[in-house]
Amino acid sequence: MIDTNSAVHEQVAIAGNSPIAELLRIDGLTLRRGKASVLDEVSLTLAEGRTLGLVGESGAGKSTLAMALIGLLMAPEVELSGSMLYQGLELVGLSDKRFAQLRGKKIGLIFQDATTSLDPCFTIGQQITEPLRRHLGLSRAEALERAVELLDSVGIPDARARLSAYPHQLSGGMQQRVMISIALACDPELLIADEPTSALDVTVQAQIMDLILRRVRATGASAVIVLHDLALTAQVCDDVAVMYAGQIVETGPAHLVLEQALHPYTIGLRSCVVEFDSAELVPLPGTVPSLSEMPTGCRFFSRCSYALPKCQEQRPKLEWREGRRVACWQLDVIHPKDASR
Ligand SMILES: Nc1ncnc2c1ncn2[C@@H]1O[C@H](COP(=O)(O)OP(=O)(O)O)[C@@H](O)[C@H]1O
Ligand SMILES: [Mg+2]
Repeated sequence: MIDTNSAVHEQVAIAGNSPIAELLRIDGLTLRRGKASVLDEVSLTLAEGRTLGLVGESGAGKSTLAMALIGLLMAPEVELSGSMLYQGLELVGLSDKRFAQLRGKKIGLIFQDATTSLDPCFTIGQQITEPLRRHLGLSRAEALERAVELLDSVGIPDARARLSAYPHQLSGGMQQRVMISIALACDPELLIADEPTSALDVTVQAQIMDLILRRVRATGASAVIVLHDLALTAQVCDDVAVMYAGQIVETGPAHLVLEQALHPYTIGLRSCVVEFDSAELVPLPGTVPSLSEMPTGCRFFSRCSYALPKCQEQRPKLEWREGRRVACWQLDVIHPKDASR
């Protein structure tokens, strides 16, 4: 039985003897909607103070994983099995009430589109002060002062005057800044951001991403950021997890995984990006099969030029290889020189 009450801070030894405080450990997480497993045996770890990028084509399950992590996808809508340990607290099976205590306090959220996350009926001031009063117990006056500081820290000019504005009175970029200030209001230990800049004009995307990362680093928080831009992920994230059709195919330090990819899917994704392989831009052949047609083994099977019958039937496990974990039966064939190391 899952113990949902233990909130143990553990020092876990990862990679040799150096102790790294582990914030999040996801193990064998499977999420079903009806018969389809939208997440299939997902395993990931996130250490304190690190930023993990989730990448993969549309429909890979990135948003689903982000939503499950913050308790926004629960039974009876979906069936969850496996484990998500957050500082020793099991999140799979955690009650809605307990999740509500974590959200906005220990775990901050930034969604793709501020217009759907900010409430049009409440002023910016009301929306920022609400978590400060609820989670931190600040008085109204204290919360308002803190709100001005927060808006100021995310670069909103004339912050005090903005408190009485409604969301529609601000530009998309300013609304996204407000959402960031709300997400970071209670100094969360973990920030979850789902494509936080993709609804914005290209000119403000870099500013907002830079702002998020600077705020995360300044507070020492960890972050899980869903990104569709591989080159940006390599630049801004410490670690990366590459997802394909609900499975993690490769995960580890971002520069290793994205610059010296081992999994044929990661290699294929890279070759679609101008910044990485400008000489040879090759689209990935084929499309992701529908969830009802997934093989029991590796889900990349139908698009993989190295696939064997075994790949279709047996799911490869994530194994350590050259500083990252990768799930592929054919690594010794794809990277023959590496096999002897
Ligand atoms: N509300 C929903 N109902 C049914 N299926 C959904 C729903 N949301 C997402 N899915 C399915 O789950 C899979 C993963 O989607 P999603 O997590 O949004 O992927 P990503 O964020 O990587 O683009 C897709 O096959 C998608 O069609
Ligand atoms: Mg998504």
